Amino acid sequence: MATPYLVETKDLKKAYVTDAGAFEVLHGVNFTFREGEFTAIMGPSGSGKSTFMNILGCLDTPTSGVYSLLGQDVLTLSPNELARTRNLFLGFVFQGYNLLPKADLLENVGLPLLYARVGSAERKRRSLALLEKVGLGPWARHRPSQVSGGQQQRAAIARALASEPKLLLADEPTGNLDSQTSDDVMSLLISLNNEGASLILVTHEPDVAACAKRIVRFRDGLLVEDSPVLHRRAL
Ligand SMILES: Nc1ncnc2c1ncn2[C@@H]1O[C@H](COP(=O)(O)OP(=O)(O)OP(=O)(O)O)[C@@H](O)[C@H]1O
Ligand SMILES: [Mg+2]
Repeated sequence: MATPYLVETKDLKKAYVTDAGAFEVLHGVNFTFREGEFTAIMGPSGSGKSTFMNILGCLDTPTSGVYSLLGQDVLTLSPNELARTRNLFLGFVFQGYNLLPKADLLENVGLPLLYARVGSAERKRRSLALLEKVGLGPWARHRPSQVSGGQQQRAAIARALASEPKLLLADEPTGNLDSQTSDDVMSLLISLNNEGASLILVTHEPDVAACAKRIVRFRDGLLVEDSPVLHRRAL
């Protein structure tokens, strides 16, 4: 039997309310995603990719439609339950890394564990193991400004993994990186997916999308194409 969907959206719509009135940017998105998948979302600027990702990540709510995450209807959750769902099940990676500049990589990676009230020694142990997993063990005591952009992004990925999320969401994770460091980050994501991690990433770069197993395309607020990657890029 097929595994149940991790994510399912039906006729998902989102309108932003501005001074000029309500402005619909997602016009009814239908999307399903199973555990262990690796999907890249592509599409022109302004087509609604980040809006969709923010809804999947429970950072924003849709105007109408259905969003179910792990079989649970997200739209029925209170703001507190939504935050809890986010902390328990989701990991985020952003284009700008979003690391705390005054904390070292070990402390940055341990932040979700601090919020989860994991004690200091255990937090250190787990953060170091995560940094080692992404190849940054020797840089544990460096601050973000003391390592490269690719290393900062790998630390951000380690931080996203700290809470052992069911789904990792990455919005243009290689957007600030040159092609070599971008490949380092993608090679890490590929190996995480090989170990079973479920990944959805947004990218403008065909080379990055070709590392995924499936590509979904947005245009003008609609999902217009959904296809498997036939010739995956190996890194
Ligand atoms: N907070 C907001 N308030 C009003 N309009 C918004 C808001 N966020 C996004 N939009 C509008 O929604 C549309 C979709 O934006 P979105 O950021 O989802 O696009 P995107 O596909 O991620 O683009 P890019 O590739 O440039 O990141 C755009 O027209 C944008 O101007
Ligand atoms: Mg965007």
